Amino acid sequence: MREQLLQKIADRSAVVGVVGLGYVGLPLAMEFAQAGFTVVGYDISERVVGLLQRGESHIQDVPGAAVAEQVKAGRFIATTDEARLRECDAISIAVPTPLSKTRDPDMAYVLSAADAIARQARPGMAIILESTTYPGTTRELLQPRMEAAGLTVGEDVFLAFSPERVDPGNTKWHTKNTPKVLGGVTAACVEVSKALYEACIDTVVPVSSPEAAELVKLLENTFRAVNIGMVNELAMICDRLGVDVWEVIDAAATKPFGFMKFTPGPGIGGHCIPLDPHYLAWKMRTLNYKTRFIDLASEINSGMPDFVVEKVSRALNDDRKAVNGSRILVLGIAYKKDIDDMRESPAFDVIRLLEGRGAEVVYHDPFVPSFREDEHSADSRRRFGVALTVEELQAADAVVIVTDHSPTAVDYQLVVDQAKLVVDTRNVTAKTRRSGARVIALSAQEGAYPAAPAHALQGAAH
Ligand SMILES: NC(=O)c1ccc[n+]([C@@H]2O[C@H](COP(=O)([O-])OP(=O)(O)OC[C@H]3O[C@@H](n4cnc5c(N)ncnc54)[C@H](O)[C@@H]3O)[C@@H](O)[C@H]2O)c1
Repeated sequence: MREQLLQKIADRSAVVGVVGLGYVGLPLAMEFAQAGFTVVGYDISERVVGLLQRGESHIQDVPGAAVAEQVKAGRFIATTDEARLRECDAISIAVPTPLSKTRDPDMAYVLSAADAIARQARPGMAIILESTTYPGTTRELLQPRMEAAGLTVGEDVFLAFSPERVDPGNTKWHTKNTPKVLGGVTAACVEVSKALYEACIDTVVPVSSPEAAELVKLLENTFRAVNIGMVNELAMICDRLGVDVWEVIDAAATKPFGFMKFTPGPGIGGHCIPLDPHYLAWKMRTLNYKTRFIDLASEINSGMPDFVVEKVSRALNDDRKAVNGSRILVLGIAYKKDIDDMRESPAFDVIRLLEGRGAEVVYHDPFVPSFREDEHSADSRRRFGVALTVEELQAADAVVIVTDHSPTAVDYQLVVDQAKLVVDTRNVTAKTRRSGARVIALSAQEGAYPAAPAHALQGAAH
């Protein structure tokens, strides 16, 4: 089996399946197709499959033309028909791994994908889980399902975990040139899945077990969550001290070694950083261990929308206004700059908190013209963004900048020229010429300690 599969991978006659065609699965499917494999993309969403079959793309980083080219060449087949997985020699799983309402792992998507694959599995298949998950998932949830189907892992089927590192919107690092970590259940599992990924990914990094590979991904995302939590706390510290947090971070970042720059903001978003560390925290709770760094970072990061809303409230108060009844323009809904992904965006919390205090909230985001308040419910209200016009800016009692979209996408000079009050949580107005608006930063810029006048700093630089 192993030899046969390696041969099929080498001569590209292997059919590769990708289960889940979202932010992770679709770019991966395109890489396999571009490497010369025939790819069967299986997704339960009729809408997604319909789009892809027509040669269109629903993922910003994958151009429609790339999908159309592969569909036309017959190298990419999108389907909702589970039975087509039986044609596959290798299957990568990239389905969602969200949290439940109680912030425990919701494994429903992984389990249903694993059950579908187990129903279609046959000897001579490699199965690789890509969804971010807690250590032990591959061995504890996938392996027993394959064995119940009568297949021996390492002999009949080859099982591995390989975390995806896709960074939506990143133009430098994408699926092909980002090194890929991989851990297999047996040595043969590593050999086969490594050969498969090396056919389309520049660098594959094998580790000794699926658990190590699962933990690598959680380390990467916990590292970010903890460091962002730390600079968010620094922003609150600077606010009390009356020191500009951005100045402190930029100056610290001039240290050429031993410092890595992270920036504060209104909270964290996306499908990874706010969620993934909780997979590890949950797993460790089952082993009677409390993950203190994860818990603290989560507490600080999830408190940032409150901190921002409190700033808005105080700033309006200075203008003798209440949040209640004020019109507030939220600038940016996406969870990070220049992308249309708004999953877990802190903007939702900021809006909810402002509306909870009686504000009338409108939003503008050039990447998100509209969104559903609850993306999981088709009945929930759809909100539409407003255009960023002089009238909208003048009509707002406050503008709250939540996402740091590039100045090519948002005219920040227009914002500071026309708005009365701007609460800038991302420091994007730093490069504008200050004019009409009073701009409030995430941390106070004028406070207890006297700052040297600007001309003295310029002098010091020479
Ligand atoms: N988005 C990212 O930036 C990113 C980065 C690294 C890792 N990840 C991880 O990758 C995994 C996938 O994330 P994503 O962002 O691509 O999700 P996504 O929501 O964009 O796409 C998932 C797709 O899976 C489909 N699906 C759900 N259940 C299915 C099933 N049983 N069978 C077939 N298809 C099914 C959905 O219809 C959807 O199209 C998650 O575990 C996530 O944590 C995501």
